[in-house]
Amino acid sequence: MSYNLLKGKKGIIFGALDEKSVAWKVAEKAHDEGAVFTLTNTPLALRFGKLNELAEKIKAEIIPADATRVEDLEQVIRQSMEILGGKVDFILHSIAMSMNVRKSREYDDLDYTYYHQTIDISAMSFHKMLQVAKKLDAINEWGSVLALSYIAAQRTLYRYNDMADAKAMLESIARSFGYIYGREKHIRINTVSQSPTITTAGSGVKGIDALLDFTDRMSPLGNATAEECANFCIVLFSDLSKKITMQNIFHDGGFSSMGMSLRAMTQYNKCLDEDE
Ligand SMILES: NC(=O)c1ccc[n+]([C@@H]2O[C@H](COP(=O)([O-])OP(=O)(O)OC[C@H]3O[C@@H](n4cnc5c(N)ncnc54)[C@H](O)[C@@H]3O)[C@@H](O)[C@H]2O)c1
Repeated sequence: MSYNLLKGKKGIIFGALDEKSVAWKVAEKAHDEGAVFTLTNTPLALRFGKLNELAEKIKAEIIPADATRVEDLEQVIRQSMEILGGKVDFILHSIAMSMNVRKSREYDDLDYTYYHQTIDISAMSFHKMLQVAKKLDAINEWGSVLALSYIAAQRTLYRYNDMADAKAMLESIARSFGYIYGREKHIRINTVSQSPTITTAGSGVKGIDALLDFTDRMSPLGNATAEECANFCIVLFSDLSKKITMQNIFHDGGFSSMGMSLRAMTQYNKCLDEDE
């Protein structure tokens, strides 16, 4: 069902790789809700992913860019304004990658070149994107910028590794830039902390199946899907959330507020009984 929540709005969506990507779902929903926008991803992702399929379906233009490169970001933002005929109202940062995670390097044995890349791709790119957009005066007043985060920014989750540091930085950038952009342009900046989700990036974390099962059982509402995350992103891009800024908002079925659940307690008691 469509509510025309983004009718007349323009945007840029970073990070749709294939139909599992959170950004892909956001693009589909944004299109359904009346927005026009450009899509962007790295040249490599464009070669191996399926972004063309999405672009054809929703009639959006693709602009290749490596989000760690300021020149590429300038190009994406300038070109987007040309294509869309003016400033944008929303930007989605849905970008993450860690070679340390991919190569199963433990947190006490990180490769520092990879660590730099993790921070640059998964966090600093958000600052670069915001700084370029601000210098080019590319976002309309009351615009909305979102990045996707994960609870590992606050809590330690086995195997999330250096991505936890990147997410903590990402959330901090949303607050620090959110103050300046809010004060000067009434532009809001938030992060959405999503449940673990099976996507290409999500599957990079070994043991994601067990993690997904654990968080699903611990969350009173169960894990949030990528599609549900997209619905929430649309609300945050819409005028219905104009006064929300500098926040990290958990979209996780309640997991972040849980300590012990009835199910976990029952299971724990059973294990204790078995040991006796
Ligand atoms: N999947 C999960 O469990 C989960 C949970 C919470 C948050 N998130 C976050 O959601 C966001 C999207 O991830 P996803 O799960 O949809 O996976 P995904 O693999 O579909 O998306 C990650 C995207 O990052 C892009 N990317 C990597 N390096 C880039 C670069 N240098 N420049 C531009 N783009 C680059 C990839 O091409 C890909 O499209 C990420 O920030 C991720 O950390 C995911």
